Amino acid sequence: MFSHKLIEKNIGWLIVLTFLVVSVGGLVQIVPLFFQKSTTEPMPGLKPYTALQLTGRDVYIREGCYLCHSQQVRPFRAETERYGHFSVAGEYVYDRPFQWGSKRTGPDLARVGGRYSDNWHYVHLMNPRDVVPESNMPAYPWLANSAADVADIQAKMRTLNVVGHGYTEEEIEAAPAALEGKTELDALIAYLQSLGTTHGPNPEPLKF
Ligand code: HEC
Repeated sequence: MFSHKLIEKNIGWLIVLTFLVVSVGGLVQIVPLFFQKSTTEPMPGLKPYTALQLTGRDVYIREGCYLCHSQQVRPFRAETERYGHFSVAGEYVYDRPFQWGSKRTGPDLARVGGRYSDNWHYVHLMNPRDVVPESNMPAYPWLANSAADVADIQAKMRTLNVVGHGYTEEEIEAAPAALEGKTELDALIAYLQSLGTTHGPNPEPLKF
C-alpha cells in the first residue's frame, strides 16, 4: 500500500516526491508573473534610457556604485517615509541588468532623480566630503576627464531593441551626437537624475 510511512522510509520516493511538490509549488508561483501586466509592462510614463543616460548607467555599473547603493525602495514605512513610494516591478522594465543591489552603505538611489541639482551631483562625485563632510563615499574625479563612449552606443541601443526597448531609428542615428562633448561624469549625472522620476519624488500612491 502507498502510505505516508512508505514515503518517509524510502529515501528514493522521498526525493522524487519532494522534488515534484517543490517544482509544482514553484511553477504555480512563478509562471503567472510572466503573464501579469503589472510585472511585465512599463509604468505609465516610463521611457527607455536616453543615449546619455544609458552611457551613465554603464559608468554606474563599471564603477561598482551598486556595491554601496541599492535601487529598490521596500514596502516598509521607514523606507517609504525616507525615499518615497515603494518600488514596483513596472519601473524596472528597461533596467537590464537591474541594479536592485543588496547592500546599503549609502542611501537607496531608486528615487534620487530630481532630489539634488546637477551641480550638487557634480561636486559630490568629484569629492563627496565637499557637500557631506562625514561621507565615506569614494571620490570619482577622473570621470570628469574621460569622454563619454561614443563608439558603441548605437550597437548598445540596437541590442536593447532586441529585447524590446523600442528605440527608433532616428534616436539611434542621433545618439553619437548626443554624447559629443560630454564626459562620463555628465552621463552619470544624467542617469542619476532619471532615477525614479516616472512618478516624481513624492508620488501619489501607485495604481496597479
Ligand atoms: C563605499 C561605498 C560607496 C560607493 C562605492 C559609492 N557610494 Fe554613493 N554614497 C555612499 C554614502 C555613505 C553616501 C551618504 C553620504 C553622502 O551623501 O556622501 C552616499 C551618497 C550618495 C548619493 C546621495 C544620495 C542621497 O539621497 O543623498 C548619491 C547620488 C551617490 N552616493 C551616488 C553614487 C554613485 C553614482 C556611485 C558610483 C560612482 C557611488 N555613489 C558609489 C557610499 C558609497
